[in-house]
Amino acid sequence: MARSDPGMILVAGGAGFIGSHLVARLLDEGNEVICLDNLQTARPSNLKLLEGRPGFTFVEGDITLPLPDAVTRHADRITRIYNLACAASPPQYQVDPEHTMLTNVVGTHHLLRLAERAGARFLLTSTSEVYGDPEVHPQVEGYRGWVSCTGPRACYDEGKRAAEALTFDYARAGRAQVRVARIFNTYGPHMHPDDGRVVSNLICQALSGRDITIYGDGSQTRSFCYVSDMVDALIRLMEWRSDALEPVNLGNPNELTVGELAEQVVALSGARTPLVHRPLPQDDPRRRRPDISRAQAELGWRPTVDLAEGLATTYAWFAQELAEERVPAEAA
Ligand SMILES: NC(=O)c1ccc[n+]([C@@H]2O[C@H](COP(=O)([O-])OP(=O)(O)OC[C@H]3O[C@@H](n4cnc5c(N)ncnc54)[C@H](O)[C@@H]3O)[C@@H](O)[C@H]2O)c1
Repeated sequence: MARSDPGMILVAGGAGFIGSHLVARLLDEGNEVICLDNLQTARPSNLKLLEGRPGFTFVEGDITLPLPDAVTRHADRITRIYNLACAASPPQYQVDPEHTMLTNVVGTHHLLRLAERAGARFLLTSTSEVYGDPEVHPQVEGYRGWVSCTGPRACYDEGKRAAEALTFDYARAGRAQVRVARIFNTYGPHMHPDDGRVVSNLICQALSGRDITIYGDGSQTRSFCYVSDMVDALIRLMEWRSDALEPVNLGNPNELTVGELAEQVVALSGARTPLVHRPLPQDDPRRRRPDISRAQAELGWRPTVDLAEGLATTYAWFAQELAEERVPAEAA
């Protein structure tokens, strides 16, 4: 690569929820970006917002397979690889658990090999799910987790744990510079309306006047990070000057119960929608709150969008999608 060439950035999973925001921001900053995605959980409308933008290339491909030539032929120009490729919502990653596991292990391996060949820096989006149903609260990076390796979520949780192990092995062997983000619940526009994640579920139910479903008694807690804050954190982490072999928690430490979240969504809708309780899914974590001290100290990052503001923006976005009928009937 010529010295004056700023190179290219590869974003695997760039047509998904977080990926589409990340790609847009990287393009805004003047980068050339290749988005590699198998379109498994991507929304076509996310991709439409990116197509045609200067510097953007879309390559359809599955990272569990050898990477397409349309990507590898740019190896001498790729300087950064973000790996966001993996269905993130439980109903979606449980549809084909074998593929979810292979995406995390084999897919991450393919991208790490490309990083090694290209001399590119590699960022893995891991997850708070590596902590399982945590006994330590809030969750610090040093906590090793309480995860079932036999349950229905294991394809994702254990897949991500294996992906972290592989990523740090590459770094320890001096084969690639790596960064590992442990992402906690993130929400915002471009989410799939019917993928079973709590924020999109509640908003779509409220908008369509259907009953609001709460799993369990609603006392389980979560902490929600708005997507623009997450994208900012991912870019800071990628550009972090340290090669420390440490994962970094990224999320919003503002913790609330799912019941409280539902009340906020109902208040936004202005309707008196009934709340209906359903059984808790197996292995659902009871508490989730990131300790983000490391991200604050090392990346100078903390979330800036509060929940009321982020929820209102997300609600308005879903309302617009519904008005333009981009939300499938079963979700609305
Ligand atoms: N959104 C969250 O709250 C959250 C929380 C923790 C971790 N994460 C992680 O962040 C990343 C992005 O999450 P998201 O919410 O944007 O999910 P998403 O499902 O919206 O996006 C994932 C993207 O990856 C693509 N993909 C899946 N498997 C692939 C494969 N084998 N090959 C190529 N492309 C593939 C999908 O088509 C989709 O476009 C995921 O790795 C997820 O595990 C997200």
